[in-house]
Amino acid sequence: MNTTILQPRARRMLLTVVAGLLAAGSAVASGGGALADHANVDVGNVASLQRGARNFVNYCMGCHSAQYVRYNRLAQDLGISEQQLIDNLMFAAQKPTETMTIAMRPADAVRWFGVAPPDLSLIARNRGADYIYNFLRGFYLDPTRPSGVNNLMLPNAAMPHVLAGLQGTHEAVFAEEGESGATHTVFREFRQVTAGQLSPEEYDQFVRDTVAFLAYIGEPMQLERQRLGLMVLAFLLVFGILSYLLKKEIWKDVR
Ligand code: HEC
Repeated sequence: MNTTILQPRARRMLLTVVAGLLAAGSAVASGGGALADHANVDVGNVASLQRGARNFVNYCMGCHSAQYVRYNRLAQDLGISEQQLIDNLMFAAQKPTETMTIAMRPADAVRWFGVAPPDLSLIARNRGADYIYNFLRGFYLDPTRPSGVNNLMLPNAAMPHVLAGLQGTHEAVFAEEGESGATHTVFREFRQVTAGQLSPEEYDQFVRDTVAFLAYIGEPMQLERQRLGLMVLAFLLVFGILSYLLKKEIWKDVR
């Protein structure tokens, strides 16, 4: 674009917008850099998905719905019988054909938290599995926040640390970096304050299962797509060999 055709005022505005975008970009990058662990979820692991479903129903559905997910579809995909479904997962529904909605009204949620907890049906596609994995491992004590905690991945998050009983609580250690006058705060490490019911490894696995479940509900077809993909490849291979043999057979006599 030829900027000389812009009026000085417009050019200043454009520069401000560009500078703002760059600043926002680096803020996001440094926020994302605070914890950059990989979730390593395996949506093909049905046992992990089953544990994740149990975690989600028990620890997340107090506030978050998954309104595009139907209980009976879940049971079918995760190899759960109807009785197991009713006994272990359907606390918020009467019939297996219902979707995973919750009773909390958005208006009440806004009054309590300031923000309504988002529906989590598509969150893994929206944010990515690694982000959610680090988000659920990124809570630290911060007395200046109404909930008493802050989050490395989502600064000033409105979500309380609902898994503190399992993980325990942490303080975050920050350090100042850079030249004088142009320093910025960087995250150094977590220090455990109180212990939780789970060891750090068990907690990571708990979060990994939960994120695997969110990745699965974000695209329930993916399990079937992978199975189907392998079958298509196997078919193509067999068909390819057959056609080759057939071609040889036909051309044998045409010489
Ligand atoms: C007590 C209510 C409550 C519970 C229980 C809860 N959350 Fe939240 N959650 C919230 C609120 C409120 C927000 C909105 C945070 C914001 O935007 O600041 C949120 C936001 C999120 C987000 C979006 C973060 C982002 O970057 O926008 C994810 C992911 C999430 N929660 C996952 C979970 C999972 C997984 C569980 C279960 C282990 C859970 N939550 C349990 C209240 C809750």
